[in-house]
Amino acid sequence: MSQKRIFIVDDDPKIGELFATVLERDGYAARSFVSATEMLEVLDADGAPDLILTDLMMPEISGIQLIEEIHKRNLTLPVIIMTAHSSVQTAVEAMRLGAYHYLQKPVNLEEMRALLGKALDLYSDKIELKEIKTQRKKKHSVSKILGSSAEIEEVRKTIDTLKDIPNTIVLIRGETGTGKNLIAQTIHYASEWSSGRFMEINCAALPDNLLESELFGYEKGAFTDARAAKPGLLELADGGTVFLDEIDTMSLALQAKLLSFLEGRTFRRLGGVDDIRVSTRILCATNAVLEESVAEKRFRKDLFFRINVVSVKLPALRQMGKDTLLIAEKAAESFGADFNKPFEGFTEAAEAKLLAYDWPGNVRELRNVLERALIFSSSPTLDAKDLLLLKTQGFETDNADGYFRFRSGGALEELEYEYIKHILATKKTSYAEVARLLGISKKTLWEKRKKYNLDEEVEEMVG
Ligand SMILES: Nc1ncnc2c1ncn2[C@@H]1O[C@H](COP(=O)(O)OP(=O)(O)OP(=O)(O)O)[C@@H](O)[C@H]1O
Ligand SMILES: [Mg+2]
Repeated sequence: MSQKRIFIVDDDPKIGELFATVLERDGYAARSFVSATEMLEVLDADGAPDLILTDLMMPEISGIQLIEEIHKRNLTLPVIIMTAHSSVQTAVEAMRLGAYHYLQKPVNLEEMRALLGKALDLYSDKIELKEIKTQRKKKHSVSKILGSSAEIEEVRKTIDTLKDIPNTIVLIRGETGTGKNLIAQTIHYASEWSSGRFMEINCAALPDNLLESELFGYEKGAFTDARAAKPGLLELADGGTVFLDEIDTMSLALQAKLLSFLEGRTFRRLGGVDDIRVSTRILCATNAVLEESVAEKRFRKDLFFRINVVSVKLPALRQMGKDTLLIAEKAAESFGADFNKPFEGFTEAAEAKLLAYDWPGNVRELRNVLERALIFSSSPTLDAKDLLLLKTQGFETDNADGYFRFRSGGALEELEYEYIKHILATKKTSYAEVARLLGISKKTLWEKRKKYNLDEEVEEMVG
């Protein structure tokens, strides 16, 4: 482990030197200053120490003001105040302002050593945590949402507004692949307020009873297999976010239960008698037109109104104009970096092809096309022929007459894959609707989507 740096500030030079000598002997890199001004100059020039030990009453800048200066610089480090008996009251005030602790003068060396050790341990954990959080924030920062169209600007503005408003429900709408998961994560990680976890659940992936117990949790004995109590996602994400994806596929019964939670912010575990109160932000997403689901009585009107307080509508890629090129470029650059292949741009024909296509799978499809192009192309400039679009691949579809053609002699599984892909790509509708069209359950459709990687999931969640 590297040597910890400690700065000591005391207007009495003898005290500063004494402590510096003692701490050097203990294995620290210690340095003493006779004024806070002098110390701050060195701190700004050479970087912050791991800990500051400072006198409270000093001419010029006092210990309290020093703490404020540290705050202003957004530094995470412990400050220990030294003070004479008469000013203990002020030392307490200093702790309220963020000092780690105080030592009474004359300082007992053993006490000082113990306190320093504890403070340094505690703060190294704190700093690590802060680092992880900053990295996550960076990874999910608003700037990762690409696009300059008015709609996307609006999305970024909404996320910014939501930053310090806890608990608002947000409904994220948009076709498949338009970035609903991306937006949900960004809302969570950009929020100043949320220190809790981001928990995501796909309502289409589970049969209703399982979805219910996942969300609300259960007590021991609530049903046959409930051998021990288990908290649900709403509890686990207290102070954080639960993201309900494909909310349109939720059963009417469960919709009623969700509504009751959203109204009162309390719920009971399955088989439980206690009301549990949490402050968990709920984000919902759907690629369905919920107004239609409401009209067809598949979605509760009251729930729709409840979750539609703040709504984020993501534009389809074909409506984003030149943004397609911008997103394509960024994606190609990042795949290029991943595969260690240079990417220098698109030919004019490639650009025209990107702009002409209607991208039923939106940004996800665009990314897939570019990933493939980067893998197979031998030139750093991508040409139209490098871009293999869904509609020109191995099978033929005919939107005009509504027929789907498949080469004879293919395997049944291949047919299933192509057909589901075809329906997903051509029917710009919800998964719930697609499942109905195919005559399978939402869960089966979800399983097939996963099996054939029909909508490759977002990067695995951290933590
Ligand atoms: N505006 C955007 N800027 C940058 N990347 C984007 C944007 N929109 C989508 N993406 C990327 O496209 C991919 C698909 O996005 P995402 O999974 O969020 O879509 P979705 O709307 O949740 O789709 P589905 O309805 O199929 O679940 C992800 O890799 C995501 O990061
Ligand atoms: Mg999604």
